[in-house]
Amino acid sequence: MVNKITVVGAGNVGATAAQRVAEKELARQVVLVDIVEGVPQGKGLDQWQSAPIELYDSRVIGTNGYDESENSDIVIITAGIARKPGMSRDDLMNTNAGIVKAVSEQVARTSPNAIVIVVSNPLDVMCYVAKQVTGFPRERVLGMAGVLDTARYRAFLAEAMDVSVRDIQAMVLGGHGDTMVPLISYTTVSGIPVTQLLERSALDKIVDRTRNGGAEIVSYLKTGSAYYAPSAGAVQMAEAIVFDHKRILPCAAWLEGEYGMSGLFLGVPCKLGRNGLEKILEVELTPAERVALGKSAEAVREPMGKLSI
Ligand code: LAC
Repeated sequence: MVNKITVVGAGNVGATAAQRVAEKELARQVVLVDIVEGVPQGKGLDQWQSAPIELYDSRVIGTNGYDESENSDIVIITAGIARKPGMSRDDLMNTNAGIVKAVSEQVARTSPNAIVIVVSNPLDVMCYVAKQVTGFPRERVLGMAGVLDTARYRAFLAEAMDVSVRDIQAMVLGGHGDTMVPLISYTTVSGIPVTQLLERSALDKIVDRTRNGGAEIVSYLKTGSAYYAPSAGAVQMAEAIVFDHKRILPCAAWLEGEYGMSGLFLGVPCKLGRNGLEKILEVELTPAERVALGKSAEAVREPMGKLSI
């Protein structure tokens, strides 16, 4: 358990993340911050009142400012607007860049030693905003996308093979967009290569559904985007950091030469421990996967170039 985890944004992703953090008792204090008056206070109080039933001692509070979040160990940034049907994540860029910038300034001021996990979209570009504005080293600014994309991929695979999600190991790399790169070559079911268990055509369909996994949910919800799996992804990263698990999870990390690329956030296999990003693992990729990762990087660089912060 750490002393304090702050979740910025009391919308569906943020509020659910705060609930998960509290129920897992990752921190003594869970601070939910949002600019909308009353909403973080109400949701925080409501969550705290569930503690005697769910039996956790993490104290949840909601607030409109950052004083209560001072000296957080981890800050999860979920603030921003969500997609509506027909919108791409990039359509959110300018609005959310302004929001993430304002949040990052407050985080740098009040929690200068925090590890930041960004969830706001377009994810890879918002990570860049957070890193630039906070000035934090790359070890302490990470983006949550790969865990979510991989979870979707694993869920679809488990369903197709009628096996436990527990036994599916997989990794989705690249940017959090249609160009993401599910690595079939590293997908196994308890160590058995998935290619021995599923036809290529079935795998291709699953890869495609994974790439459009966020849009599929948006098309159902209509007024917003996914939040149960995104919040679970962010909290899994926080958990690995809090307990120094040294887990290998796909996260958006700032590249400095890894995979032959620099100067952008991209989903790569990361070791997460108490220091945040402890290592980026460079794994061998097939020529097709390498090309796909390069294309995904281009898809991240393109909106990044239009950003003014
Ligand atoms: C999704 C959004 C949160 O993938 O990016 O559902």
